[in-house]
Amino acid sequence: MDLPVRRAKPLLGDLHIPGDKSISHRAALLAALGNGTSVLHGFLEAQDPHSTIRCLRSLGIRVETSGEEVRVHGRGLRGLSAPTNDLHAGNSGTTLRLLSGILAGHPFESVLTGDDSLRRRPMNRIVEPLTLMGASVKATNGKPPVRIRGKERLKPISYTLPVPSAQVKSAILLAGLYADGVTTVEEPVQTRDHTERMLGLQVQRHADRISVSVAGGMTIPSREFRIPGDISSAVFLIAAAACIKGSDCVIRRVGINPTRSAVLDVLQHSGVRIEKINCLEDDAEPLCDLHVAFSPPEHPVHIDPGTTPLVIDEIPALAVLAACARVGFSVEGAGELRVKESDRIALLSENLRRWGIDVREHQNGFRFDPPASLREATIESGGDHRIAMAFAVAGMVHGGITINEAECADVSFPGFWNLVERLVAGKPGPYSRMT
Ligand code: S3P
Repeated sequence: MDLPVRRAKPLLGDLHIPGDKSISHRAALLAALGNGTSVLHGFLEAQDPHSTIRCLRSLGIRVETSGEEVRVHGRGLRGLSAPTNDLHAGNSGTTLRLLSGILAGHPFESVLTGDDSLRRRPMNRIVEPLTLMGASVKATNGKPPVRIRGKERLKPISYTLPVPSAQVKSAILLAGLYADGVTTVEEPVQTRDHTERMLGLQVQRHADRISVSVAGGMTIPSREFRIPGDISSAVFLIAAAACIKGSDCVIRRVGINPTRSAVLDVLQHSGVRIEKINCLEDDAEPLCDLHVAFSPPEHPVHIDPGTTPLVIDEIPALAVLAACARVGFSVEGAGELRVKESDRIALLSENLRRWGIDVREHQNGFRFDPPASLREATIESGGDHRIAMAFAVAGMVHGGITINEAECADVSFPGFWNLVERLVAGKPGPYSRMT
């Protein structure tokens, strides 16, 4: 679907964003390993978390969905049954990598695969540690399909992440549930810690690294879980509100876990006015309402290598925001962007050039000076949800943007284009999650 995006009216009133993708995956997976029924509220009703549910069902788990409420009938740590077909993770790296960790501890064979994009993504990063733990894990030239023959008892390991990746960390911690002893993961930069929080694991901070350990055999209780809104989805609305004159809105119930909220610091540093209100700090996952008013960045948006892993999913939105506000942009130490749902360095650079910006791309990042002029452009989303939604902001602020394969937004933000349509038409809020 090719979608033209016209200038939007000011963003006013209340906006609701869908549930957090990373937390939705983990909540479903851990509920499946729990003893009894867990109820997940605010579950993200998008393609990616539904891939996790589909795989769990193929592994014998009963999952009932009713909109954003999901009931998972857990069968305990060792309750999954052998699948009769390949497990299809769709576009979702989180599904494939986290589930691999769990399947490493199950003594049957399973094959995990995905769509064209996922079949291009690197898997040796999970093959190596899970093999060290004693499972047989074979990728196809380092990519999916991944064939796993798990073991009932794995070996505990101490592992330092070679790339900053919460997916790899989580795969090892989940496999650690099946190990005879304590498994430890060390990371030089802390990546998102939702798995640690859900399992109640202690994180230790050293001068040069963070480490987290899990003891094999722990029991996972069934529970009720409230999933906050996804800050990685909120960022598109923050960017639009910051750049569209007259905007003054409140984005409700956004997750502000400290391992995810560095994007707010980057935005505030550049001059965007964001106020946190109604914060619930003592929840399992902290959340706030975010009040954002028209306040385009006045300073260049610079993301240094230490910050990059903390804002890895928000870089498309931050780059487009900088261009909209005609300030410079640079990101470094972001080689991981090349192995996301698309090669985001190449695709962002290509689309920013189509829009009239002189982008200098290098292996681990890209930069541009304040753009002198912006033109009409057709954006090649490459089926990458975050590229499509980032350039929707370009359209809402400046008009004259058409997005190819726009339907890919459904991977993480159901109802995104309906919301954009309402904002373009200036329909009054509140904008519910599904409008
Ligand atoms: C995620 C971790 C990140 C992120 C992805 C979700 C997760 O990937 O980009 O959207 O839920 O653990 P990496 O672990 O590959 O960095």
